[in-house]
This record gives sequence, C-alpha cells and structure tokens, in this order.
Amino acid sequence: MMQLQLFKTLESAKRGKKERSGIYGWHSYYAGYSEKFVASAIDYLNLNSDHLLLDPWNGSGTTGVVASNFGISSLGLDINPVMNIFSAAKSRYLLSQKPILYQLSHEICQTYSQMISEGNPLTEDPLLELMPASVCQGIRLLHLSIEASQYPDYPLSSTLVQFIPISNHPTSNPFQSFFHAALFIITRQLMGWQKSSNPTWFKANSSQLYSDYGLEQIRDKFRTTIQGMVADLETYQNKNQSQVFHLPITMDSREIALSDNSIDGIITSPPYLTRIDYAISTKPELLILRDTTYLRQLREKMMGTPVIVDKTIQINPIWGKFCGRLLENILNHPSKASASYYFHTQTQYFQDVEKSLQEIIRVLKPKCKAMIVVQSSYFKEHEIPLSEIYVEMIQNLGSYSQVIKREPVRGHLASINSKSNQYKPNKVYYEDVVLLEK
Ligand SMILES: C[S@@+](CC[C@H](N)C(=O)[O-])C[C@H]1O[C@@H](n2cnc3c(N)ncnc32)[C@H](O)[C@@H]1O
Repeated sequence: MMQLQLFKTLESAKRGKKERSGIYGWHSYYAGYSEKFVASAIDYLNLNSDHLLLDPWNGSGTTGVVASNFGISSLGLDINPVMNIFSAAKSRYLLSQKPILYQLSHEICQTYSQMISEGNPLTEDPLLELMPASVCQGIRLLHLSIEASQYPDYPLSSTLVQFIPISNHPTSNPFQSFFHAALFIITRQLMGWQKSSNPTWFKANSSQLYSDYGLEQIRDKFRTTIQGMVADLETYQNKNQSQVFHLPITMDSREIALSDNSIDGIITSPPYLTRIDYAISTKPELLILRDTTYLRQLREKMMGTPVIVDKTIQINPIWGKFCGRLLENILNHPSKASASYYFHTQTQYFQDVEKSLQEIIRVLKPKCKAMIVVQSSYFKEHEIPLSEIYVEMIQNLGSYSQVIKREPVRGHLASINSKSNQYKPNKVYYEDVVLLEK
C-alpha cells in the first residue's frame, strides 16, 4: 500500500442518519455521500460564486444541492435519467416558484381525473411485472398526465449556455422533474416495495396492502406527496441564494460534451467495483419513463455493470501496476467464472474509468482540482485498492494525484454477498478521497 499524507480538514463522506430523511428520503439511494463532506471539499478547493463546479457521476445530486447553498453554480452529469430527475427536483429555484408549482399540480390532477372519467383501459405495461393492475393503471395515468402538461423553461444563465450544446443532451426541467419525483415516491409506496439490504431486490406484488387502492386515492396520495415535498424543500434550502443554477444533464462521463478547460472544480464519486446494478436499482422508475429495452441498454452502458459488453478488452499498462496485478490475479484465479466473467466485467470497468478520467482532465481548467471519493472492495481474497488504482491511472494520464483522506467503512455493500467471507474473513474496506490536479 502507498504511503499516504492525509489531510484532516476534509469531513467524512459517510452520510449521517439525518441525510436519509427530508429531500434525501425521497428515494432509497444507497451510494450517496454526505453534505458535510461536499461543504468541506468546496472549502478545500477554494470555490466561490464565480466558479463552475462539475459532478460527472451526479447520482442523487448532493454536490449540486450543497453547492447551491454556497451560491456556487454546478452541472451534474448522470447517465441514468431517473437520478437526474431526483436531482433536478431538489432545485432551489422551485421554491421561488411555489404558486406555479401548485397550479401545475392542480392541472395534472385535473387531466388525471379527466382520463379516469374517460375510462382509459390498461393495456400491456412493463410495470405489471412489479405491481397489481389497479396500482399500475393509476401510476400510468399519472405519468401520462405529467407528460401532458406544459412546463415553464428553466432560466439558464448565459454562462451555462456557452459551455453546453444542450440540445443533444436532455436536461431535466425542475418543474416536470418535481412531479416525476412525486410519482416515483408513491410508486415505491404503492408497489409494496420493502427495504432490503440489497438495493436491486424488489418484492414484486408481495404486498396486497394497496392492491385495491382506488384511482382517486392514488390522485390524493400524489397531491399530499407534493405538499410534503415542498415542505421538505423549504426546511432544507437556504433561500438567500436564488441566482445560482444547479443543472443535472443526462450524459455519459466517458464522453463529456463540455468545452476543454471550462470547469473550475470537480467533486464526485464514481460507481465502485462492488457489483451494484445501478440500472436495476431504479427499475420501477425506468419502466415508468421508458421500457424494458431502454433499461437493458442503460444497464449495458453503466460503469461497473455486471453485464459483459466487450470481451476483447485487454489489460492496458496505462491503468497502472496495481490494476495490472489485480487483473492478472483475477484472470489466473482457480474459482469458477473468474476468467470467463469477472475478468471481462473488471477490464470494462477500468477502461471506462480511464475514458472518464481523460474527460475529467480535459474539461478542468489548468491547475484546477477534482476530488473523487472511492471505496476499496475485494475480489475473493484479493483487495481491490481502488483509490491507489485511480491515483496511478491519473498520474499515467499526465496529472498530479494522491489519496488525501482514508476512512474504514462498516456495513459495506459487498458484505451483502454472504459468500464473500469464505475467501478472506474480517476484511477491512476503505473509503478514500483521491485528489487530482491538472
Ligand atoms: C456512486 S454514485 C454517485 C453518488 C453521488 N455522489 C451522491 O451523493 O448521490 C455513481 C453514479 O454514477 C452513475 N453512472 C454510472 N455510469 C455512468 C456513466 N457512464 N456516466 C455518467 N454517470 C454514470 C450512476 O447512475 C450513479 O448514479
């Protein structure tokens, strides 16, 4: 392991209990980092309101929410439109537009009531796999009603427009996102979904609790959910900073459509090698928005996907010695599927990391920094020292890098795999902060 020179001023990236309620209680996201970490990282990077901050793996949008409170504008990229919807729904801009928000809510409910009275029959729907037909019909009609409304444009600042050819990359309108997020919240409640240690497990149809929920009751639940969400935004947001934008964009970190040298700082956390299936964890929401084909394609594009997409990728020396050694160990491991499956999913991951880091370096202004939170994990008995691999790869790509914070992790997601202890018991996992300086 590398000798680390650690910095004490950075706060822990682990979320506290409070960060699972309020706006963070809107969705069950298990991969988020803490607000206090983002606040300390903003301080560490010396960012102010003249700067533009980027999070290329935006997830639930913590970076943007905290940056807005500091009066700093930010862009958040995520390949999963569901995460961008949750992130855009937290936009502080909505608070200054409360009357419009309530007017839109009224219109959506009216459209919904109209559709009920017209007796829209339920046809084939991928959501039926996850919930009773009566609930599915209400969710689908609400979605159609949300889609049918007209939403005010998000007033983009002129600074923003000069950086992004937005037309090619869907941004999430905060108003529409707010209603989609409300729909997602009630969907999870109505489908009888229960919390489990594995975020990709769904208890499909397990609960009969809501199976006879009427269509009117679903509309009323939607209304009260919206009121609760407005209250969550109000308790959370610092109202003095209305001039900042926080824009989530559906974009791939391997192909960032931003100009060279345009970003002043990056605070982010990529997918780790913990085999979390990020697309499947938002399956109900993706099936509301799109269809099973889109879900499958998104799954293949996700960094760290458990699906083999390209078997031809070979170990690349630019990934560094730690990475090379790890991949050799996997290739030569005697266990079943190591060479035929795990080697391929892991080479895919490291190739995606390399492409994304190249993009991160390209869009950062010279001398500007990125802070990247990563967790170590294990392949059988072999540690995957992700932070050290990132540091080496960044150095090989020509930028300065070091690990500046290290913390042991309890309740690691890898431990949901009960067999993981058979190779090496009492494993220690770390959450590290990798610094990159262009
Ligand atoms: C660890 S999470 C980010 C957590 C975030 N810091 C938070 O506090 O919520 C990683 C995110 O990367 C996204 N992702 C996966 N592959 C991607 C890609 N190729 N481009 C952009 N985002 C991607 C996933 O959808 C997921 O939301």
